[in-house]
Amino acid sequence: MDSALVAAGERRIGWAARSMPVLTAIGERFAAERPLDGLRIAACLHVTAETAVLMGTLKAGGAEIALAASNPLSTQDDVAAALGEYGVGVHARAGVDRETYYRHIHQALDISPDVVLDDGCDLVNILHTERTELLERVSGGCEETTTGIIRLRQMAAERALRFPVVAVNDTRTKRMFDNRYGTGQSTIDGIMRATNTLLAGKTVVVAGFGYCGRGVAERARGLGARVVITEIDPVKALDASLHGYDVQPMTGAARAGDVFITVTGNRDVIRGEHLAAMKDGAILANAGHFDVEIDVRALDELAQAVHRGVRPNTDEYVLADGRRLLLLAEGRLVNLTAAEGHPAAVMDMSFSAQALAVAWLARERAGLAPGVYDVPQEVDVEVARLKLAAAGIEVDTLTAEQEKYLHSWRLGS
Ligand code: ADE
Repeated sequence: MDSALVAAGERRIGWAARSMPVLTAIGERFAAERPLDGLRIAACLHVTAETAVLMGTLKAGGAEIALAASNPLSTQDDVAAALGEYGVGVHARAGVDRETYYRHIHQALDISPDVVLDDGCDLVNILHTERTELLERVSGGCEETTTGIIRLRQMAAERALRFPVVAVNDTRTKRMFDNRYGTGQSTIDGIMRATNTLLAGKTVVVAGFGYCGRGVAERARGLGARVVITEIDPVKALDASLHGYDVQPMTGAARAGDVFITVTGNRDVIRGEHLAAMKDGAILANAGHFDVEIDVRALDELAQAVHRGVRPNTDEYVLADGRRLLLLAEGRLVNLTAAEGHPAAVMDMSFSAQALAVAWLARERAGLAPGVYDVPQEVDVEVARLKLAAAGIEVDTLTAEQEKYLHSWRLGS
């Protein structure tokens, strides 16, 4: 093993851990109580410094872990090297092709897991289609992201899902902070690192006004951009409009935008007809889980020439009339490819919920039927309470009279 790479990974993990006090406290508790003793975990997560802190927490709790990446471009190789030295089975390398990416997931599954952790549902999908011989042993799972939850709910509706899965994404402490502030900041960070563009005065088109899209829109507006939202959900579109954003279909937005950011979780959001209408120099970035939101094949077909790597993570597509469109990170998650993903302070909450959900599963799994489960409410509240305590923030508590008032229907005006 390259010792310089390991040392760089260790430094990076140590730096992340400084901003993860809640997960660190849970790790200390796990080390004393060993709630995961004997548990084998296969995880498919972005291999980042923050994930490494989660792996350390689960190991402290007694788990044996195999880890594969949940995206071919998001792996931090120095972190992967350091994690290997800690005794986690890591199957991940930055920039691998599709085939190697899936081979790595199979290798992680070779541990024959009791519990699986997924980010996007690729590992659960492979378990249910290609590695069904392992299903008998698997007694639970956790899913980290919106896209994965959508796929799991569909599996559950079709009665295809064979074990209980906890929807970590749906906790308030994940969705409100990770999706909004984490995706918001890291997406803008990725675009800036890739292009060094000035956002002030630019028109930024954000496709999708879910928690993530809202976060991206808020950060772009904060930097002085004019923000246009495209949506298919009338309620979200109305919400965006009442936030003061310009709301338009992509057809109009395509002509107006300087920067396009897709955050919908759906495919073909930016298609050939939109690409053909864009301005010279338009920047295209995706912050949705899969690389399906921008039709890269249509872009290839429109282009007369492609200049790869005009800057790191930036490819320039030259159209017949000379206009240049700039595709970031090959249309994959820009925040984890061109930047470092969500900041550790945000992942502290998401991964604390994840660690506590694994401990909950380890306790309860024998009594749970297959299906998608919410993280128990007390986990959410505990994560928030620990995060506030770490920041030295105190909050009010209900008086006895207030408690009584909340629980009575007889008291009125
Ligand atoms: N998803 C988004 N940001 C992440 C990060 N920093 N680590 C792991 N998963 C992530």
